Amino acid sequence: MTGTEPVIEIANLVIAAGRDGVTLVDDVSLHVDAGECLGIVGESGSGKSLTLRSVLGLLPPTLIRTRGTMRFRGREDEEPRPVDPRDLRGHGVSMIFQEPMSSLNPTMRIGDLVAAGPRAQGVSRRAAADQALSLLREVGVPDPEQRVRAWPHQLSGGLRQRVMIAMALSVEPRLLLCDEPTTALDATVQDQILTLVERLRAERGLALIFVSHDLSVIARVAGRTAVMYAGRIIEQGPTRALIENPRHPYTRGLIESMPQLHGPPVRLKAISGSPPTAGRLPSGCRFAPRCPFVVDACREVDPPLLSIGPHRASACLRQAELNDGGQS
Ligand SMILES: Nc1ncnc2c1ncn2[C@@H]1O[C@H](COP(=O)(O)OP(=O)(O)O)[C@@H](O)[C@H]1O
Ligand code: SF4
Ligand SMILES: [Mg+2]
Repeated sequence: MTGTEPVIEIANLVIAAGRDGVTLVDDVSLHVDAGECLGIVGESGSGKSLTLRSVLGLLPPTLIRTRGTMRFRGREDEEPRPVDPRDLRGHGVSMIFQEPMSSLNPTMRIGDLVAAGPRAQGVSRRAAADQALSLLREVGVPDPEQRVRAWPHQLSGGLRQRVMIAMALSVEPRLLLCDEPTTALDATVQDQILTLVERLRAERGLALIFVSHDLSVIARVAGRTAVMYAGRIIEQGPTRALIENPRHPYTRGLIESMPQLHGPPVRLKAISGSPPTAGRLPSGCRFAPRCPFVVDACREVDPPLLSIGPHRASACLRQAELNDGGQS
């Protein structure tokens, strides 16, 4: 799985509330290679879910993609090609969500749920049932021979999430989109699911995009991270480098407010204020009203996301001064 071309490449994605409506996702570009996990992190409302949903054409009906291109590589031998998102559902791309119950049909038994995708693709009932059993085993559902006859409501939250992952894998995706899949789970179960996701990425060579508001979760699973703020990617880079040496004050704020990343007890700093309302962005840098490093120039220009070194980019006018922990 050493593809030279990304499995998916999105360029200049813009999502708006209608043709002339408010911009909710603003000029987002990203790519993911086979066997790689890209993390997307940011506070609630920053545009993470819309970005992910647009890959599958699953935007809410009132929202539209007003700009942007998407190229997808379906099989190992295939060239990247522009795609209509609707073509990707069940054909190379699967998605898992925060709340498994909303995606698990309560009137279907677990075995039938996991067999439904392959059945829809013409796999025989028998073969799909066998495949469901082995997938449930692969994702760590105990006693799968018994559990295939269970109903979704009979399972714990962690087991439901494992079933949803088995369903996602049943159509043999190249790309798995994960939208806060562990946010509703307690810490122990969250940890187990993250371990599973990591194992599947490594064993199956899956390309993954993993979205979370929690940087400590992203740090566990993602080799590379994009930080979103108010609809834009404002910093990106290899996850470890980004955490050790953040080059945008917002990323720095996220790190300082994450207890898990700090080890021994420290006084945690929350980022003061709240993100701007969509359509009511401040002039200049959208983080300026909350930024401890703000200077007058920040209110005049909206800083573009610029390359600041190998695989790193930042949308901060003062990124160079932040290098290796500069103080305001
Ligand atoms: N159906 C919708 N109609 C109008 N605005 C929406 C809709 N869904 C999401 N939004 C807005 O789009 C922005 C991004 O939302 P979302 O991608 O869900 O954020 P995140 O997943 O980062 O929490 C938010 O400001 C949200 O209020
Ligand atoms: S451009 Fe200015 S306001 Fe924006 S993040 Fe950088 S220092 Fe802060
Ligand atoms: Mg979301």
